[in-house]
Amino acid sequence: MIVKPMIRSMICINAHPAGCEAMVGDWVERAIEARSSVSAAAKASGKPLPKAVLVLGCSTGYGLASRVTAAFSAGAKTIGVSLEREPSDKKPASPGWYDNRAFDRQAASHGIYSVTFNMDAFSDEARAEVIRRARLDGLQFDQVIYSLASPVRTDPKTGVMHKSSLKPLSKPFSGISVDAFSGEIKTVSIEPATEEDAAETVKVMGGEDWELWIKALADAGVLARGCVTLAYSYIGSEHSWPIYRYGTIGRAKEHLERTAPALNAALKDLGGKAYVSVNKALVTRASAVIPVIPLYVAALFKTMKGMGLHEDCLDQIFRLYRDRLLAAGAPAVDEEGRIRLDDWEMRFDVQEETTRRMREAQEGKLEEATDMEGFRRDFLQAHGFDLPGVDYDADVSYI
Ligand SMILES: NC(=O)c1ccc[n+]([C@@H]2O[C@H](COP(=O)([O-])OP(=O)(O)OC[C@H]3O[C@@H](n4cnc5c(N)ncnc54)[C@H](O)[C@@H]3O)[C@@H](O)[C@H]2O)c1
Repeated sequence: MIVKPMIRSMICINAHPAGCEAMVGDWVERAIEARSSVSAAAKASGKPLPKAVLVLGCSTGYGLASRVTAAFSAGAKTIGVSLEREPSDKKPASPGWYDNRAFDRQAASHGIYSVTFNMDAFSDEARAEVIRRARLDGLQFDQVIYSLASPVRTDPKTGVMHKSSLKPLSKPFSGISVDAFSGEIKTVSIEPATEEDAAETVKVMGGEDWELWIKALADAGVLARGCVTLAYSYIGSEHSWPIYRYGTIGRAKEHLERTAPALNAALKDLGGKAYVSVNKALVTRASAVIPVIPLYVAALFKTMKGMGLHEDCLDQIFRLYRDRLLAAGAPAVDEEGRIRLDDWEMRFDVQEETTRRMREAQEGKLEEATDMEGFRRDFLQAHGFDLPGVDYDADVSYI
């Protein structure tokens, strides 16, 4: 089968098996290169490198970057959980399915332990399976990364499926949206959420499930002394606040952020700690569908690349390890106790130039004023397309 990208409204409905393999291979090489600086950070601070890491939402984006860094920069054993569409004769799998397979292959070839579960991470069954496997293999996790991004969650207690939404709160939102592939810029308007929409989004993307995981793992005795758990969040700039931070998803992120102190209480006896890490805006499958974000990210990339400050998911996690988790003393946090990897994105000069570029883009200079090309490449690569060295005219097997 010859596989070409099938993209509709910034959603790519297929993936290229060989491209996903190449993308993961590239990340693994970069993580191996980063190994010496990660070890040097641990040596300088006297902190141990993690030995066993659980990554929830391990297949793509920040979760995959976390898993690759844990395994190939720190040498940790990893268990990953993500929910993927399997391949059939007619249809390729989801990109994460190929990414997981590539990760497990790479780990095996480097003699690094890895186990991947294709399961609904919101289910009690997934928790039981991870605990069973950790006990069987004698693992105690010293890191648990919570990197799920999902539109729906079935509550394991009630069986009710909750749906998240991307809506403003209290007043209608009107903002610029750009289709990175057609170049079409249009104004999108979204009516405000109801209280029920907001509560549903908190159910899906808030901290309830993170708390269920940490309590279950602690009760089962599969967390190591001094264990650290991290969940990822986003704040972003004023351009996206009405739809993101002050919208339904922001309400959920606030809930997630408030969950960290509650988890600290649960981890106290183990000397463990829960953090939320606020990360930089990047092109992932989840972020590409948020109104305003593609234009903002393309302008931000142009700005940050020009200033020599650009990072992708993997660079962000390298910095998380080197300058935060493995640095001497407790990791640097803001006044709310959050790790801030978005510090460079939020710099005044970066935001000022990004705003100017967004304005120019809307005056007909989309390609010159922004890094739309970089946005498109990152988007395609997240689905295994547009990777150097991959023959996209060759026949590939989906399976
Ligand atoms: N992308 C950004 O710009 C950005 C910035 C800051 C923070 N974040 C945060 O990082 C986290 C990860 O987002 P991402 O952008 O890397 O997204 P992503 O779409 O690349 O990854 C989401 C992961 O969740 C998994 N997943 C979804 N539903 C699942 C389920 N029911 N069971 C098991 N796995 C499931 C997917 O398989 C995938 O592995 C989110 O909390 C997001 O808010 C993202």
